Amino acid sequence: MERTKRYSKTYLISAGDDKGVEDLAKRLRDGEVIGFPTETVYGLGADATNKDAVVRIFEAKGRPSDNPLICHIADKEQIGDIVKDITPVAHKLIDAFMPGPITVIMKKSDVIPDEVTAGLDTVGVRMPSNQAAHDFLKACGVPVAAPSANLSGSPSPTRAEHVMNDMDGYIYGIIDGGECLFGLESTVVDATGDIPVILRPGAITPNAVKEVCGDVKLADVLKDGEIPKAPGMKYRHYAPKATVEIMNLPAKAVIINDELQDDSYDASDDKSHLDFKKLDDDAKQDLVDIAAPFVFRIREILKDSPAARIGIYAGDEVCALIDKLGDKIISAHTETYAYGRSLDVARASHFLFDGMRHLDLQDVGIILAQGFGGSGLSKAYMNRLGKASGRTGDVPEGAAYEEASRYADLESFEGTYTASVLFVCDDNKRLSPACEGIFTDLIRRKAPFRLRDDRKVGCELYAESAGIRAYQDEQLDQDMTDAVMESCGVNISSYRTRRTEPSVYDANDLIFTMRDEQAYEILKSFPELEGKVFSLSSYCADKGLVFKSEDGRVASISIPDPRGENKATYLHTASALKAWLELIFPYVLKDLGIERC
Ligand code: TXA
Ligand code: MG
Repeated sequence: MERTKRYSKTYLISAGDDKGVEDLAKRLRDGEVIGFPTETVYGLGADATNKDAVVRIFEAKGRPSDNPLICHIADKEQIGDIVKDITPVAHKLIDAFMPGPITVIMKKSDVIPDEVTAGLDTVGVRMPSNQAAHDFLKACGVPVAAPSANLSGSPSPTRAEHVMNDMDGYIYGIIDGGECLFGLESTVVDATGDIPVILRPGAITPNAVKEVCGDVKLADVLKDGEIPKAPGMKYRHYAPKATVEIMNLPAKAVIINDELQDDSYDASDDKSHLDFKKLDDDAKQDLVDIAAPFVFRIREILKDSPAARIGIYAGDEVCALIDKLGDKIISAHTETYAYGRSLDVARASHFLFDGMRHLDLQDVGIILAQGFGGSGLSKAYMNRLGKASGRTGDVPEGAAYEEASRYADLESFEGTYTASVLFVCDDNKRLSPACEGIFTDLIRRKAPFRLRDDRKVGCELYAESAGIRAYQDEQLDQDMTDAVMESCGVNISSYRTRRTEPSVYDANDLIFTMRDEQAYEILKSFPELEGKVFSLSSYCADKGLVFKSEDGRVASISIPDPRGENKATYLHTASALKAWLELIFPYVLKDLGIERC
């Protein structure tokens, strides 16, 4: 579906800003689309009684309009207006679970246009339980039709910044209510019949529904060609760009937190469970059992593809154990996202979508994610994870959230930090300025960055170049400038040569030379730079970035100076540099202590 940018910017207001919320509610009544927080995920809301407004949701989302939307309300009194018939089953569900993470499907009234329900004669009704959603919906005064606020095909948003990344310029405004409590979408229950049917699992478990209604059915997984009862079932959802593999829990691991309690999400940063020395032997063995499939799989992947980048979505203990292995290659090739205690499925659910998005940004090709084997919330978690891992082939249409300009700019951080990388060759006329230009272009495309250890601090990253035997202020080799332009689309014609000096070395955090001898020469004069200076090839070897050629020989980077060669050689040099710099970029970020955000 065609997406058109309607706004030069999307307003972001805080949920505590009463006037701002009032204003966005008024805009919604005037037909605008507004992103708002709920206790499950962020929603993309429009006036459910206004067809044209509802169509704009589909435009912003890039979602086919044959997928019905849920109507959100602030008070139970509103239900009577939007549905025709409240069955006894629906009554029970409403009494027991609203407000809360449930969507109850009932026969719709004429107030709700077909655009909301995709032509179905039923409508899903949901009353969120968090204060920010309630205040906003109350101020709107109309039922608010809203799907999750992600681009079609990408993971549901659990923070305002996710919504901004996907929707900046496409909707009028967003209310920032912080992180969503549950992090997984609501349980969808069809209550039009005598027995409730769960169409989508969520935090309200089948058992809880059964307890209230006496009976419950689970909708079958859709078979090929079948008309879905919840049309959402036929679309691929929650898919990160990376392939997702589920790492199963060993059978004996106990799910300590299977049934989600409202208060089970505890934001306190209690890390006492990471003190391995305090654990008894059984507990230690349990952790090793949980972590083992991850470590085993990481080693297997790296054996097959030495340049693989692997994301780990797992608990604190698993991530800490992987860290404790002290394996340099593993740590260079993995990006971890720890959600909390390994067996806490509530936290695993809460952070799932954020984790998938974060790991995608760190350019991993594969994500190994913790699986859970229990019933209840584990089922909802595994359902989302299964959809993410079921993806094959290309990125689904519309999932281009990475390419969309991302929200976090440096102004939104509490402070900034700078990091820089220096490229060194002999005369600073060909290889090193080409690296500077190509790397600077990569920085621009991958920005913004922040500190890994303190995510409130942004980071500005720079690249520069110099030559050990360079003259000052000379023009570059014109053939190199042309080749970098032609094969990388990067303009370095304004660069002038510069000679290396101690202050330049000091000012940079990492120094890359083109050949081993150059690194050796620098380190001989400045031994204090040890650990900071690498030739491109030694850096790659250090990260295990070596390739076996067909005859089984190990090859690593080697890019000769093209000086005096023909045009084809210059072009080849430029594109080879680009390929190598793209390859090492994520490792450089990690060594600098920063990450994409
Ligand atoms: O937690 C949630 O439910 C979030 C927040 C924003 O409320 N919303 C959400 O909406 O996840 P959405 O559009 O991403 O998913 C709604 C699901 C879809 O699978 C859709 O097919 C199903 O509910 N659904 C909606 N109306 C329906 C209906 N009348 N009959 C059957 N299924 C319906
Ligand atoms: Mg959705």
